[in-house]
Amino acid sequence: MRFSRTTGVGSPIINVMTAAAEKAGRSLVRAFGEIENLQVSKKGPADFVSEADHRAEEIIFKELSKARPKYGFLMEERGFVEGTDTSSRWIVDPLDGTLNFLHGLPHFAVSIAHERDGKLAAGVIYEPVSDQMFSAEVGQGAYLNGRRLRVSSRRDMSESIFATGIPFMDRGDHGAYLAQLEQVMAVTAGVRRFGSASLDLAYVAAGRYEGFWEQNLNSWDIAAGMIIVRESGGFVSDFKGRDQALQTGEVVAANGNLHESFRKLLSSAG
Ligand code: IPD
Ligand code: CA
Ligand code: CA
Repeated sequence: MRFSRTTGVGSPIINVMTAAAEKAGRSLVRAFGEIENLQVSKKGPADFVSEADHRAEEIIFKELSKARPKYGFLMEERGFVEGTDTSSRWIVDPLDGTLNFLHGLPHFAVSIAHERDGKLAAGVIYEPVSDQMFSAEVGQGAYLNGRRLRVSSRRDMSESIFATGIPFMDRGDHGAYLAQLEQVMAVTAGVRRFGSASLDLAYVAAGRYEGFWEQNLNSWDIAAGMIIVRESGGFVSDFKGRDQALQTGEVVAANGNLHESFRKLLSSAG
């Protein structure tokens, strides 16, 4: 039984998920090492990254199908795959942080969630370059490489940093976003934009920053991160404070001390 990475109890489902994420992560790191050479090759780096992305998804699909043949899937590239056991499905982003990857920035992850009876049951986020495996199972706490995670305990906005996703070309309401940013930057120690929503959530869980907000996300960007934040003692909601982040694509995540004031600050914008 694999022990060190996981929840300490070596839960079979977490072991299946971490094994798939590690295998896909290794394949991504191999491809990442090639990116520099590709800037000058005939085949564009974007095609190469897209191939690496599909290859990682294929690995995850094979591994998870082998371990749990009846479960369905929601995967970024492949879309919905119905399973014979309709109570369980995997929600998968094989490469979160594609733009970073393409630009040679080593900040990207594999994200896998297990949803059971419509509720998040487990999640893993693997950052392969630094070999950090974040994992959580409902009611069992969250872990980083086997070490228990807790959100930060800061209460004071002026000492807190928040991560965000800045909307880009053709996506999101730029004016509304700038109004939110203005509210947050006025009262906090700083704002960060790292470029991987799953890792933004994992880092909130690890207490590295106090919170994270973004809109227009897909469920594969956030499903695993949501359960990891919650199992670390943090809160996740949409902008209205409802448990509807997966449905609306709006995420406000923070430690329990700051979540409500942070959410109010964002919704007061504009
Ligand atoms: C993206 C990243 C990014 C977020 C984007 C996502 P991708 O996912 O999570 O941080 O700002 O909205 O689409 O495309 O790299 O899988
Ligand atoms: Ca993504
Ligand atoms: Ca992706």
